[in-house]
Amino acid sequence: MDTVTKSPASDVLEAEQAPAKKMYVKTFGCQMNVYDSERMTELMAPQGYSETADIGEADLVILNTCHIREKAVEKVYSDLGRIRQTKDERRSAGKQTVVAVAGCVAQAEGAEIARRAPVVDLVVGPQSYQTLPDLIARAQSTGRSVVETHFPEQDKFSQLPIARTAKTTTAFLTVQEGCDKFCTFCVVPYTRGMEYSRTVSELTREAEKLAEQGVRELTLLGQNVNAYHGEGPDGTPWSLAKLLRRLAQIDGLERLRYTTSHPRDMSDDLIAAHGDEQKLMPFLHLPVQSGADRILAAMNRKHTIAEYRRVIAKIRAARPDLAVSTDFIVGFPGETDDEFAQTLDLVDEIGFAQAFTFKYSPRPGTPAAKLGDQVPEPVKTERLSRLLERMDRQQSAFTASLVGRTLPVLFEKAGRGEGKLVGRSPYMFPVTVEARAGFIGEIAPVRISAAGPASLSGELVV
Ligand code: 5AD
Ligand code: SF4
Repeated sequence: MDTVTKSPASDVLEAEQAPAKKMYVKTFGCQMNVYDSERMTELMAPQGYSETADIGEADLVILNTCHIREKAVEKVYSDLGRIRQTKDERRSAGKQTVVAVAGCVAQAEGAEIARRAPVVDLVVGPQSYQTLPDLIARAQSTGRSVVETHFPEQDKFSQLPIARTAKTTTAFLTVQEGCDKFCTFCVVPYTRGMEYSRTVSELTREAEKLAEQGVRELTLLGQNVNAYHGEGPDGTPWSLAKLLRRLAQIDGLERLRYTTSHPRDMSDDLIAAHGDEQKLMPFLHLPVQSGADRILAAMNRKHTIAEYRRVIAKIRAARPDLAVSTDFIVGFPGETDDEFAQTLDLVDEIGFAQAFTFKYSPRPGTPAAKLGDQVPEPVKTERLSRLLERMDRQQSAFTASLVGRTLPVLFEKAGRGEGKLVGRSPYMFPVTVEARAGFIGEIAPVRISAAGPASLSGELVV
């Protein structure tokens, strides 16, 4: 909403008046958290805060947390233990430190965090951080911990400033949040709430701002991004394909991606966009979770392996050079050896270029956590290592297949070694190239000469 939109000029004014302070932000989990962390940093800038990588000099520490698997939660608590020491040391030196826990652990655990870790001054959920400066001021003035985990009536995006501060040539843009799919293993529908899509006009404005700041590649984010159905300028709901085509018209934006998708929502218009929208990169992350139909049904995935196969075939027909990445969960309750073997078979059959593999982790409040037939930990560990080994081979085969090809590379930053830059191929894997720093932000053809399991190197084709 325009009433809360600050012009960059007023931001500068406030920044000059406010005393200089430092904030340290640590982000766990998915790219949507990366986006939220950037927005929180932008929200605090007018209060005089700038980012630091040194927690010891931070007046404000934010842990932006993830609740998707167990370890993430435990990492937060162990970080908080260390932060308590830092806060004590700073206090001895006469300095205050505000400690905030944001993200999905904040949403799920709420006041429990402040009880378990009294070092925490503020607990703020992913739908309520738009009032961060006020919440921090409240925690400071009362000296008591503040917990804000409501899903407010008004969406947070309309209250965030439109101005963005892009730091690189690639950026994230959250277009959709929440999920109505209710996979039985997943906390997202509980922590991020029901599906919500931002309007096309709001997203277009944010994307234009990013392009003006030099962003060349934009990744549209959503827990279930291809279920996007935001209001278009004509008042009707627009699909993700229609949104992508609109954003593709923005000058300066050369590449578009989106993640994470659900196989059920790969609509024909989105598949068609892969065929004829040149700015849409030929890399699709499409989680399948398991290779066995019985497990998919128990997961409430709402698709079978045959349907997944058909979707992949259709997209590959539209875009033959498409690379596919996926997510797998091993050791879902009741998963047999034979069902796990079907997952291994699927790796070979689809030829995934990349996969994120997880051991099933029972999440409190989800239906699968209550199932009786939990798979023993050593079995999960063994299955995970077999799947990883299979995927490593597959991924190495994919990167090796790129050797000899000439790919357009978007140069992002200096690489390790004199005169080297690192860029991004259309397939995500980073490419190291000898090139002048002036190439940063440019897209140039590179002949791939060598491939490691997860990276490439090559020479500029001039
Ligand atoms: N246990 C293990 N992995 C999970 N994921 C989501 N919930 C769980 C869980 N309870 C994985 C899925 C999802 C990815 C983001 O995290 O594979 O696609
Ligand atoms: Fe979680 Fe399933 Fe929704 Fe993905 S589709 S966010 S796994 S409930």
